[in-house]
Amino acid sequence: SIDDCKVVELPIVHNASGNITVMENNMNIPFAIRRIYYLYDVPMGAERGGHAHYELQQYVVAASGSFTFILDDGENKKEVFLNHPNKALHIVPGIWREMKDFSSGSICLVFASIEYAESDYIREYNQFLNFRKNG
Ligand code: TYD
Repeated sequence: SIDDCKVVELPIVHNASGNITVMENNMNIPFAIRRIYYLYDVPMGAERGGHAHYELQQYVVAASGSFTFILDDGENKKEVFLNHPNKALHIVPGIWREMKDFSSGSICLVFASIEYAESDYIREYNQFLNFRKNG
């Protein structure tokens, strides 16, 4: 459910000359990273997403700027605003997501548990609701 989608604080290696945040398998992420991608140059006002996944789990980080995720488990919805590179949103499998309000220059960095596969996507909302109800 969306209650399982939590914002996690990532460790920061502080330094007067800047910060480092590390994502390392078996250290601070609850699944093995199989793919990394990032979304950028999103035009003002654009909305993205509009799908769920059967298997995919993700950690989503605002590497720069800010944006909002709308999460939906078929019963409840919540909005999560991400605006700092030391916060990651954990999106568990089976959650419908939309993204909006990308700030200019924002970078949405995603750590993903599986490789890209269109067969893992549910792109029809009714199909998603049916999947949530009947598995
Ligand atoms: P999609 O996940 O639908 O974008 P978003 O949720 O950000 O709106 O991906 C858009 C397109 O990008 C998709 O049709 C295929 C391509 N794509 C890949 O080829 N590999 C990937 O790892 C991702 C995330 C997308």
